[in-house]
Amino acid sequence: MMMNTKGITCPLDGTLLIAEQGRLVCPNGHSFDLARQGYCHLLPVQEKRSADPGDSKAMVNARSDFLDAGLYQPIAELMIEQLVHNIAALDQVVIADAGCGEGYYLNALSQHLSKMEQSARLIGFDISKWAVARACRRNRDITWLVASNRNPPIAPDYIDTMLCMFGFPQYPAFAKCIKPGGYLLMLDGGPAHLIELREHIYEQVNDTKPFNAEPALSAGFERVSETRLTVPKVEIPQHLLASLLLMTPHFFRASEAAKEALLALPRISVTIDVECRVYQLKAPD
Ligand SMILES: C[S@@+](CC[C@H](N)C(=O)[O-])C[C@H]1O[C@@H](n2cnc3c(N)ncnc32)[C@H](O)[C@@H]1O
Ligand SMILES: [Zn+2]
Repeated sequence: MMMNTKGITCPLDGTLLIAEQGRLVCPNGHSFDLARQGYCHLLPVQEKRSADPGDSKAMVNARSDFLDAGLYQPIAELMIEQLVHNIAALDQVVIADAGCGEGYYLNALSQHLSKMEQSARLIGFDISKWAVARACRRNRDITWLVASNRNPPIAPDYIDTMLCMFGFPQYPAFAKCIKPGGYLLMLDGGPAHLIELREHIYEQVNDTKPFNAEPALSAGFERVSETRLTVPKVEIPQHLLASLLLMTPHFFRASEAAKEALLALPRISVTIDVECRVYQLKAPD
């Protein structure tokens, strides 16, 4: 399948890319191969801060297995509800997911839009090639790219709405590719998110850092809304515990003994607690 290159730019010089026999090319002679899975790798080697940046293959597979079980579906529904509620039109717009992971949330949005007989141009990008390769399996109608939030390969003012789910927002870089008046929806774990899991693995549970709006405001965004969703007593069966642990930073922080003890439990009941923030990029005066 040919990739839709509309709005996709060369990460080296910002010119628009065009598709040409299995690759994307720019007018200055830069060329980027399309992977057989259907994504394009647009992360220049000089922007890589490690040999295999972003989530590892094991983390991506764990996240995919866990999300496929449907326990985070209320989070996808919150994201969609907040988009529908705050943003006038979703039909015929351009929506990008920065740090899209293995594509669960953008695919959920794509399915919602199909149900509503709406269509939007959807672009998902992530710095992990494992995540993006896996995302291709979820939906081939979405444009999937390996790219960094620090330098999204997207034309200036092209995006109507940017999503950043459990991600790492880079506000000035996002502001460049979001249209004036366009939106940024961010979703993050709240103070009680998976608190029971954290209580199991740490002697002392640290408070979640409060959200700092200042970097968003100084990049030209204005706050539109903030919504919290708390779902208590979500049962995680034993066969999903390892996946849940591996998709969180706790896998790297917890002691081996604590992890073993957790994985031996027959199940654990957790709280899902997320905060969804919608910001709007100010139009120039
Ligand atoms: C906690 S995961 C969330 C993934 C997905 N949004 C979800 O909620 O399922 C964070 C993701 O950010 C990606 N990531 C880390 N640094 C990044 C960067 N500089 N640019 C783009 N993605 C990045 C990781 O590879 C990983 O897939
Ligand atoms: Zn170029």
